[in-house]
Amino acid sequence: MEKSLGNDSVTQDAIRSFKTASDPRLAEVMGLLAKHLHAFVAESKLTKEEWLHGLKFLTAAADITTEERNEFSLLSDIMGISSMVDVVTQPAGATPSSVLGPFHNHDSQVRPNGSDLTQGQPGERVWFHGRVLDVHGQPVANAQIDFWQNADNGLYPAQDPAQDPHNLRCKINCDAQGGFNLLTICPHPYTVPTDGPVGALLAASNRNIWRPAHFHMIVSAPGYVGLVTELFPSGSDYIDNDTVFGVRPGLIVDIKPSQDAEVAKRFGLPTPFNEVQFDFCLVKQA
Ligand code: BEZ
Ligand code: FE
Repeated sequence: MEKSLGNDSVTQDAIRSFKTASDPRLAEVMGLLAKHLHAFVAESKLTKEEWLHGLKFLTAAADITTEERNEFSLLSDIMGISSMVDVVTQPAGATPSSVLGPFHNHDSQVRPNGSDLTQGQPGERVWFHGRVLDVHGQPVANAQIDFWQNADNGLYPAQDPAQDPHNLRCKINCDAQGGFNLLTICPHPYTVPTDGPVGALLAASNRNIWRPAHFHMIVSAPGYVGLVTELFPSGSDYIDNDTVFGVRPGLIVDIKPSQDAEVAKRFGLPTPFNEVQFDFCLVKQA
């Protein structure tokens, strides 16, 4: 690469340095990253102390990161980067996606459609049901819902040794009409982990550390683009101020009273009981 002088040429040289990448997408993404990071340094007139502070922050994030706890993922979440990736990759017509968060487990067990996940634990019961449909409103064959949420104390099993590791999570294979249903409890607002450098950054910025109450799910089906998303009961605290920017208008659900006698009998619920109904929409893989 030719040596060049002057500030602008540092940026141009850094962008050009990636053009040798054998993967053209790597050249494009790294060139753009260099361009925008250089513009940030120039516009903010970043001092050496600030730059060193930033490096120390990233080192502290690396130090606290383990297989179970990824501080960089949390940094991406609280910077709104995870949500921006959701926005720019959103397939037209599909249910909006939202952040995965750190509490998804790959080893959730498949439980029968119509399972009761509550197992005598405290919490307000809610019957969650709906269908998995395509963009034409037709049932999607062989759809599966991978579901997880926090318990009545606001904690996920990974944060609470008193909980069964499989508490309030499972996979459900939908029926031939794309239908699924399960009994669970109302989720609760929750704070993101604050014991690392990201927590210190949120505190120094006087930022909210809470997420509104939410159900998590991954909806998948052969031949369709998988969907990682969340549903947010309307009226939850922090619904207008999610610290990871995961709330989308299309993901807010009402918890409504239901008089369905068959469901009440099946789960031993008094009527009326709470229900959340939501149909997910998947788009076909290209
Ligand atoms: C959560 O929903 O559990 C979560 C999402 C992003 C960051 C931290 C927690
Ligand atoms: Fe969560």
